[in-house]
Amino acid sequence: MRVTEEFIRNMPKVELHLHIEGSLEPELMFALAQRNGVELPFKSVEEVRRAYDFSNLQDFLDIYYQGMNVLREEQDFYDLTRAYFEKIAAQNVMHTEIFFDPQGHTERGVAFDAALSGITRAMADAENELGVTSKLIMCFLRHLSEEAAFKTLDEALPHKDKIIGVGLDSSEKGHPPSKFERVFARAREEGFKIVAHAGEEGPPEYVTEALDLLKVDRIDHGNRSLEDAALTRRIVGSGIALTVCPLSNLKLCVVKDMRDHPLKKMLDLGIKATVNSDDPSYFGGYMTENFTAAANALDLTAEHLLTLTRNGIAASFLTDTEKSALLDRLDSFAQKQAA
Ligand code: ADE
Ligand code: ZN
Repeated sequence: MRVTEEFIRNMPKVELHLHIEGSLEPELMFALAQRNGVELPFKSVEEVRRAYDFSNLQDFLDIYYQGMNVLREEQDFYDLTRAYFEKIAAQNVMHTEIFFDPQGHTERGVAFDAALSGITRAMADAENELGVTSKLIMCFLRHLSEEAAFKTLDEALPHKDKIIGVGLDSSEKGHPPSKFERVFARAREEGFKIVAHAGEEGPPEYVTEALDLLKVDRIDHGNRSLEDAALTRRIVGSGIALTVCPLSNLKLCVVKDMRDHPLKKMLDLGIKATVNSDDPSYFGGYMTENFTAAANALDLTAEHLLTLTRNGIAASFLTDTEKSALLDRLDSFAQKQAA
């Protein structure tokens, strides 16, 4: 089985690490700015794209929070989410688990319910009209306080039917998982699934904290886990998945060159790694572009790509029956390729 562009495009995919606000394309940013009378510090789409030159996570986050300022009304969140689904449906993504950052909106006076309703309305339409299923995960901004996270969790409780899990994102260094141990304990009691960004820029100890204190179901990124041999053995042994984001890691200088990316090493070690796009508008690509960049730089085989996708299906928050159906679709694709 040869890895061609066509193979990567046609392979049925699953995405587990996607910030919906990070799918805001500059064209939509301008359209929403005009619709809402928001002034942007950029004159053109080209100027926005030129600003997407980051040296680290914080450089990106500053622009990401500025960009989401155009999202004001329920319809804005709908349009944002709909545009993402149209992109991924064209890339044969079968299922996606979407993050949103409620505090990025409530801090600006936009109601939690406006964001939630626009996103979930687009999720329902995408399932009916495009055949893409999805789940929603709410992230706490780790640069804000524990108290602010508790308040956000309280706002989510009436909507437990629409939010499957809680996560932790934003500026990692200096904001260890331990800062949120009590909020995540409460979230677990309420029945939410748990994920956390860890080991993207932060040290391996933050991954250990995410496992021990937050009791995560998946680690988002987790690259720096490999610096600690005992932690690596623990990750392999437990079978916990890492949601890896190749183009994000390149754009945020987590790796200097895609050829240095640890994805293949993770698979060789037996880690349940998955491929994801993180913030596709800001990092230069959606699922297909992420698989292509990693496959080209690391000489990944078709078997590697299928394993990454199987890992994604297994690590999703779908039921076993739903996972089996997705695996069947992947297997029938693989069989057709091999024939
Ligand atoms: N928020 C959006 N994308 C993020 C990332 N890659 N890391 C941390 N916080 C984020
Ligand atoms: Zn992320």
